[in-house]
Amino acid sequence: MSEFRITRTLPEDAMAAALRADVQSGLTAAPKSLPPKWFYDAYGSELFERITELPEYYPTRAEREILAARSGEVAAALPARTLVELGSGSSEKTRFLLDALTGLHTYVPVDVSDSALRQAGQALVSERPGLRVHALIADFTAGLELPDTPGPRLVAFLGGTIGNLLPAERTAFLTGVRALLSPGDALLLGTDLVKDEEVLVRAYDDTAGVTAAFDKNVLTVVNRELGADFEPDAFEHVAVWDPEREWIEMRLRSRATQTVKVPALGLAVDFAAGEEMRTEVSAKFREEGVRRELAAAGLELAHWWTDAAGRFALSLSMAG
Ligand code: AVJ
Repeated sequence: MSEFRITRTLPEDAMAAALRADVQSGLTAAPKSLPPKWFYDAYGSELFERITELPEYYPTRAEREILAARSGEVAAALPARTLVELGSGSSEKTRFLLDALTGLHTYVPVDVSDSALRQAGQALVSERPGLRVHALIADFTAGLELPDTPGPRLVAFLGGTIGNLLPAERTAFLTGVRALLSPGDALLLGTDLVKDEEVLVRAYDDTAGVTAAFDKNVLTVVNRELGADFEPDAFEHVAVWDPEREWIEMRLRSRATQTVKVPALGLAVDFAAGEEMRTEVSAKFREEGVRRELAAAGLELAHWWTDAAGRFALSLSMAG
């Protein structure tokens, strides 16, 4: 019997309140910043899908290569009955895991996007008779409550999205994930790896300008949701590598002196010519750092798999 359920744990107005709070604090801080989670309205999600197909953007292909090669080993190490996927989006790469986990009882995709969850979930149950899909509309960086499904549980957080969290946020996130697990359960984590600066910068500043459009889309979101008057073309997309913190930063650089109004917040925000506002951190990792951060959250690294070119890693860690 196929089955699709969807549960909303994110109150309807919580997203709007979070956006207001983030824009208020980010635009009044020095230096200014906006968090990357606001890129992903319908148009931003479409731009991200296009990014994953760019020749310069290797992480999606590298992670797919690992999942295609290693899903059998993941299933052997943890024959999960429940697969929870955080930030599931289109669930495209999950198919390798669903194929390999032969004893799976329930798939729990978790995302803030209602439309992505419905689309992916309905398609999966019709393709896979016997699979139960219980989708959660939730913010996985806040406290998460999972449905009561059989163990063992495998929680997957793919794509390298953990790199969008700042170090303190990562600690809190991993501790929160650990709290969802029982001894013997596991976390499957995708992390992009430190590599040549030029390769990294090109991945975040492609020649076709898709990433630039994605970056500027956050301004369009703030315009629509809060009545702001950002002129996206008055800003230039910038991607820089920070060698100390080992992360890529995306920024929007004001091309001129300008004032932006945000009526919903009663704000008038001054930008100097050349001033840069941070819109994303995308951290890159090394095996020892991942091992250490997992251990600090009570998770023991058990497997570390990379693509053949060593660009991206999938790790499997166990709750002790
Ligand atoms: C979806 C968060 C993994 O950080 O590489 C792609 C988002 N930003 N290009 C990343 C992104 C610019 C992406 N993640």
